[in-house]
Amino acid sequence: MLRPILIHPDPRLQKKAAPLVDLSDELRTLADDMLETMYDAPGIGLAAPQIGVSKRLIVLDCVKEEGVPPRPLAMFNPEIIGSSEETSVYEEGCLSIPEIYADVTRPAEVEVKWLGIDGNEHQEVFTDLWATCVQHEIDHLDGKLFIDYLKPLKRQMITRKMTKLKRERARG
Ligand code: NI
Repeated sequence: MLRPILIHPDPRLQKKAAPLVDLSDELRTLADDMLETMYDAPGIGLAAPQIGVSKRLIVLDCVKEEGVPPRPLAMFNPEIIGSSEETSVYEEGCLSIPEIYADVTRPAEVEVKWLGIDGNEHQEVFTDLWATCVQHEIDHLDGKLFIDYLKPLKRQMITRKMTKLKRERARG
């Protein structure tokens, strides 16, 4: 089922999400809905707070090469347990901040630990776009958006633009 994506500014996007205690069928359905919503958008990552659910769950799939099978990942309670000193710059965007893109500098490699949809603990080192994406999505769980890395003036400009967009959309 597709879920509506919240648009910044929204207090639900700035809240720290709660850790999950147990995997339930309800949570697995939520993860499926989030993947469906992400692919439909289309996007490469989505965090539960973006659909108004304050839980530590993210989904991502950063495969973009033609002919390479998709790799849908759902991560419950994802946690960064190691970051490289080397950084990389990516032009980031966000489904909650449509049509805005800006360069963000982050560690080039991160090691992430999470609980998978299979109920098992997973651990993996991510690089390139995957590293950027997983950090961006985990930030959402802490109420942080990619525009928080930008200079205040730029951030305010984007927020004003989004407020206007939301007003226009509400008017239909
Ligand atoms: Ni985002």
